[in-house]
Amino acid sequence: MTDEASESLSFTFPVIHGTMGPSVLDHRRLPQEAGLFTFDPGFGSTAACESKITFIDGEKGILLHRGYPIEQLALQTDYTETSYLLLYGELPNKEQYEVFSADMATQRLLHEQIRNFFNGFRRDAHPMPILCGTVAALSAFYSDGLNINDPTQRDRSARRLIAKVPTIAAWAYKYSRGEPFVYPDESLSFSENFLNMLFSRPGRHYKADPILARALDRIFILHADHEQNASTTAVRLVGSTGANPFACISAGIAALWGPAHGGANEAVLNMFDHIGSKEGIPAFLAKVKDKQSGIRLMGFGHRVYRNFDPRAKLMRSTYYEVIETLNIKRDPFFDLAMELEKIATEDEYFVHRKLYPNVDFYSGLILKALGIPTSMFTALFAVARTAGWVSQWLEMMADPMTRIARPRQLYMGEKPRDVIPMAKRV
Ligand code: CMC
Repeated sequence: MTDEASESLSFTFPVIHGTMGPSVLDHRRLPQEAGLFTFDPGFGSTAACESKITFIDGEKGILLHRGYPIEQLALQTDYTETSYLLLYGELPNKEQYEVFSADMATQRLLHEQIRNFFNGFRRDAHPMPILCGTVAALSAFYSDGLNINDPTQRDRSARRLIAKVPTIAAWAYKYSRGEPFVYPDESLSFSENFLNMLFSRPGRHYKADPILARALDRIFILHADHEQNASTTAVRLVGSTGANPFACISAGIAALWGPAHGGANEAVLNMFDHIGSKEGIPAFLAKVKDKQSGIRLMGFGHRVYRNFDPRAKLMRSTYYEVIETLNIKRDPFFDLAMELEKIATEDEYFVHRKLYPNVDFYSGLILKALGIPTSMFTALFAVARTAGWVSQWLEMMADPMTRIARPRQLYMGEKPRDVIPMAKRV
């Protein structure tokens, strides 16, 4: 858009104040009153919904779920409690917790025919397309949860998704290994069961170390929700059309897949591998700073955080617990990561743009130490984020303000013209 094409106009619109954070300018009547739309590619200055679930202060590095700081949730609750909190707004008491976790454990099993889906994929298929396709296909199996106008059915589907996505993710891994699927075990916690489905096999029962299961649980809590990020926005957008919840979460998984979002944890490890050693850091950062290269420092930067991502701090301390438990004396990737972080956080390019390590800078290091293959990293993020996605979807479906999401555009194409017969076209 040229300067000549832009002009300043002024109108008055109400400002709405939330309980915390920046207030918003309510310009819903802008088209009717001024004949204008706002222009905001990437939605950097647009609040698209009202929400009570998650609060982020990106300048101060604060993340709250239902008012509780992420630090307290990560250290004092488990993923099942945090899921309950996201879904229903309060932490469960002991009885509520027992009833909820028992119900969630029984929901982990997949309809036996869903096994057939896996055989349709190549053995070397990445887990994300398997997850994306199979989650959408759940809608063909669980029709008693598809009436989106019935709150009981919505809740049923939300719980099923949190419980069944881990089974699909673990089976995608087993399929790639050519190993038999391990059925979910109702007697295990959410994270122990997930580790069991990944690592048990005929002849070798995997017994999860409680500290490692706790570390994985913490990773799940740290990824459980993050307000209106790209994948949650995809879930809400698809949900706004009245699509079924399985289709909505499948859309969220597709959005998460990209390297700018959930695919970053896998990309970070591939980046460490590519850099190779501390000696390779300066040449790599020179490429990152060269805008022509198209290379980014993966695991750095965030749309909302302009300060250290609070999840990254917790990830780093979790990493120390894991390597101590596993008695790992030296991890060359961790040494490389520390040096890369040090150099980048002192470099003018990153300082000036307020680019700090985000959650994914460290998560891959922990997952690698836990023996989880790099190709599964984004699938684990999807397992964790399912609680956030379904909570946001439930909130949206109960919100009388919800309308089909339908942004407008700034048209810069041709003005009206007539079709010329093909014989006369140059
Ligand atoms: N490496 C190098 N330069 C960067 C990076 C980076 N990782 N991130 C941002 N920049 C630069 C960007 O080139 C731009 O520079 P300039 O002002 O000179 O044009 C400036 O910083 C602002 O960047 P932006 O692209 O406008 O920022 P954004 O808010 O649109 O993008 C982001 C946010 C997360 C997509 C981006 O920082 C990024 O690509 N990071 C790497 C991928 C990554 O780690 N993603 C995980 C995010 S956290 C987990 C999750 O929520 O999924």
